[in-house]
Amino acid sequence: MAKLKSILILGSNGFIGAHLVSWFRDQDVFVIGIDQAEASNGSLNLQPPHEFVRLQLPDTQFTEILQRYQPDAVVNAAGPASVSNSLTDPGMDFRGSVEVCFHVLEALRQELPDSIFLQLSSAALYGNPIELPIQENAPSQPISPYGYHKFICETLVEEYAKIYKLQTCVARIFSAFGPGLRKQVLWDIYQKYQAKDKITLFGTGEETRDFIYVGDIVQGINLVLEKGDHQGNIYNLANGTEVSIRVIARFFLDKLNLHDTEVFFSGINKTGDPQKWRADIRKIQELGYTPKYDLERGLEEYAKWIKEDKGS
Ligand SMILES: NC(=O)c1ccc[n+]([C@@H]2O[C@H](COP(=O)([O-])OP(=O)(O)OC[C@H]3O[C@@H](n4cnc5c(N)ncnc54)[C@H](O)[C@@H]3O)[C@@H](O)[C@H]2O)c1
Repeated sequence: MAKLKSILILGSNGFIGAHLVSWFRDQDVFVIGIDQAEASNGSLNLQPPHEFVRLQLPDTQFTEILQRYQPDAVVNAAGPASVSNSLTDPGMDFRGSVEVCFHVLEALRQELPDSIFLQLSSAALYGNPIELPIQENAPSQPISPYGYHKFICETLVEEYAKIYKLQTCVARIFSAFGPGLRKQVLWDIYQKYQAKDKITLFGTGEETRDFIYVGDIVQGINLVLEKGDHQGNIYNLANGTEVSIRVIARFFLDKLNLHDTEVFFSGINKTGDPQKWRADIRKIQELGYTPKYDLERGLEEYAKWIKEDKGS
């Protein structure tokens, strides 16, 4: 399709949403943001959306927003983003992901069926995959409510493409990191260091992840919107490389100049945490995707932000 003229980002004040907003603004795309919370990304130096509506989805006002702005594309970057929270409160996770996704698709069907809809999904849907690298057509076998709910959202995205011919697609993101991220393993390491706690992580340290820097997530989402297939199609979004938690933890602490700080592992597997992940990214590469941030460069950027921000 032609270059986007306008885009609506749901969850525009979140970690990924805020980076999307700023990047699309830089490309001269008119950006509308919706979030239930006010922005708190002051230290990030990101551009705000042209228009912002504070709203907790689902909300009937959403239909009016679609009518008013008629965006070429809608990206759903809202919703809960924590495996642990989904285990303690699966209802909260279900409402935030499945109900919101359904509500948005249904509003698009009624008001703006020509707009492209992109749902942010997660590698959590793969659980412990049978083989690596993980292709998009690998079986879905989630091991957390978060993963199951992402699976249901993807099914809705497919339903609205197949039954109602909406232009929908999915980006299955692996382990995201970058400036602004205040959760997950790298952030936990820094928090424990700041609290002067012994840094003990779950697992053995030999578990692996495919880390993707937020700048590459934004690039990948843009490519899927502009060049991808929109018939419920799914694209892995990752770096295509595997690194153990032990290695990345050491690498990250070195980037923070904490060369003498040690990391320990409890040997206890955290519920919902998979063992090994490495994505097959050939499908998105065919759209022209090439990760621009290797681990070295990405960690440098993240560590720089943490040092400047002081985790405030
Ligand atoms: N961060 C990751 O490592 C990662 C990996 C894979 C997939 N994802 C997915 O990407 C999406 C965004 O993740 P993130 O890390 O940016 O999360 P985040 O928590 O930083 O941002 C989510 C934003 O959405 C807003 N929001 C939540 N529920 C809302 C609602 N009902 N109505 C309006 N606004 C709402 C929040 O206020 C927040 O600003 C999530 O769906 C997440 O599951 C994230």
